Formats: sequence, C-alpha cells, structure tokens
Amino acid sequence: MIENDFIPASYKFEKEEGRVQWKAPSNIALVKYWGKKQNQIPANASVSFTLDNCRTITSVVYTKLDKENKEFSFDLIFEGKNRKDFKPKIETFFERIERYIPFLKNYHFSINTSNTFPHSSGIASSASGMAALSLCLMDIERQMVSEMDPDFFFKKASFLARLGSGSACRSIKGNLVQWGEHNDIMGSTNLYGIPYPYPVNEVFKSYQDTILLVHKGQKSVSSTVGHNLMHGHPFSEKRFEQAHDNLKRLRSIFAEGNLDEFIEVVESEALTLHAMMMTSIPYFILMKPNTLNIIEKIWEFRRASKKHLCFTLDAGANVHLLYPNNEKKEVKKFIKEELVAYCENGQYICDQIGFGAKKM
Ligand code: DP6
Repeated sequence: MIENDFIPASYKFEKEEGRVQWKAPSNIALVKYWGKKQNQIPANASVSFTLDNCRTITSVVYTKLDKENKEFSFDLIFEGKNRKDFKPKIETFFERIERYIPFLKNYHFSINTSNTFPHSSGIASSASGMAALSLCLMDIERQMVSEMDPDFFFKKASFLARLGSGSACRSIKGNLVQWGEHNDIMGSTNLYGIPYPYPVNEVFKSYQDTILLVHKGQKSVSSTVGHNLMHGHPFSEKRFEQAHDNLKRLRSIFAEGNLDEFIEVVESEALTLHAMMMTSIPYFILMKPNTLNIIEKIWEFRRASKKHLCFTLDAGANVHLLYPNNEKKEVKKFIKEELVAYCENGQYICDQIGFGAKKM
C-alpha cells in the first residue's frame, strides 16, 4: 500500500454526532526505533512486544459544526482535568493526518483520555495515547462509509498513529509487531506496523514484563530531539545496519524460542540505544545510577540462577525486566528481595505480552 491509499474517496453518510471509545496498549521495543526521516519514516525497522496492563483509554464525542471551521475544534480532558498544555501535540497530529481524515474540521471533538498506569511514572504514554485516539477517529470514519474491511481499518489506524508518534503504530495489534521496511520480512512497510508474520514459539506468547520505576520525573531530552540527533551522528549508518541484522537474527530466535540468543539481542539493543544518546552531539545520558545498579544485579542473578531474566530500556531511566512465564516465581522473589530497593518509592508495574487494542 502507498500513502494515497489511505485518502478516502468520499463519505456516504454524514453523522451529526456520536461517541466512540477505545483502549490501546503500550508496547516495548526489542529492536529499537531511534532515528527517523521526514514524515515519520523510521531510519530502521523495529519490533516490539505489545503490553497488556499498561493502556490508554480514550473516548471521543463528536458534534457536527454548522460550517467547516478554519481551525481544529477540540477540547482535551486527561485524567479528569482539562489540559490545554496537551493541545499543541494533538494539533500537530491533526495537521499531519488531515489529508487522510478530511472530516477533521467539520466537527468539534471532546477527547477524554486516561492511562491505567500511574501518571508521571516516566512511562511514555504517547504510544498508547496516539494509538487509542487514532482508533477512535477510524471508528468515526467507519460510520461514514458503507463498508470497511477490518484489515484496512487496523492498517489505517496504525498508519495514523505513526504520524502521531512513531512507536504508536506498534500499539494497535498484538502480540509481536514489526514496523519498517525490511528485505527479509514479508509485508513489512514504513507506513504501519504489522503482526509479526513468521512463527513465534509458545514461550514468547506469555512473556512477562515488569517495569521498574527508577525515575518518575520528566526526561531531560525528549525522544523527538533524540531522533533528530541521529542525523549526522558518527555511528548512525552502522547502527541502522545493526538493527537490520538483529531483526534478521530474531527470526529463528522467535521460531525456536532460543532464550540465550534472545537475551543477547535484546540487551545489546537497549545498551546501543543509550550508547547512541551518549555519542551524539550534544551528548546526553538518560540512565540513572540505579539503572546501572539494576543491570549489574540482573547479570549477577542470571549467572547464579541460570534463569532467563533480561532487561531492556526505553528512552528513559526505567528498566523493563523481560522473562518467561514459567520462571515468574523465582524472578518475582528476586525483584522483591533485591531490585525494589532501586525503584523510586519502591514502585514497579507488572505487565505481560498482550493482544492489542479493543473497542469499549
Ligand atoms: C526509544 O515513538 O516516542 O522508545 O516518533 O518522535 O514520537 P516519535 O518517537 P517515539 O520513539 C520511541 C523510541 C524508543 C524506541 C522504540 O519504541 O522503538
């Protein structure tokens, strides 16, 4: 598919008003997206686990305006509070998608959104947030045409979400989602995320993700700034090649359930992401001392116990612990006894691989 395939021909029905509601999950990348080209096109392909408990719930009430507006007309309530400060982000998103959702200026939208994970936990809500909002808009569009193929519905939702935040396009479907053109991955595209198209071993279908909240404050450097610093970065070309190779390597790892190799790829990806931050100009560090303390502890635990616990990192200080469900008992004990001490206020979130967004 190409971009123009997402421009609707015309709408058959013009609804006066209505309400839609969706919940969309967060996701955690195994091979990271870091660096992008114009129009939210990723510099390299990525793959992620869709999460289950960490979600955004968004409802949109839409009311037809008497005549088409010059500006976008909407208000935004986040966790019960009117948030004017969130509006510019939505405005930019609407500008980017207007070509594909041409009814945007014909309605007033009341957007009401909340997260299931604690506010200001340092967990990015842009992925689940943009995914949930895109699904709401698609649901409205679906009511205006006589028929919409479900496959197209989800593809376009992912396409729109990508224009809001790149990683959001991986938050529509479960449980393993790939985004970005890759020669060896059938159906892969820069435009939207696809469910991973090759066999995935049972062990990954119930994988656990415990998120240790190391630093709950605002990040010092946003992802958008970080992505931009990959332009002219001394190691960028090699990094993009490495991500490409890691995706290739994961194909047999996913199929066979080879956990030792899985750990090597995933931890290397996390550390490389942060290495890119530390070697850009200007350079920056998003890890905190406790991020490193946790990593040391994980390595010690793995050596001693032979369990398959590994870590990954987002663009922040929090640590995602990934491990198979059948090792849950030992890992949870280890978390409680050894790792909680490194979490801000002892806080962590238990999550697991999930199966995608749902209409409510
Ligand atoms: C480190 O998707 O937040 O989490 O497209 O600018 O909104 P924008 O960036 P964003 O970047 C995510 C970066 C990452 C890695 C990943 O999720 O693949």
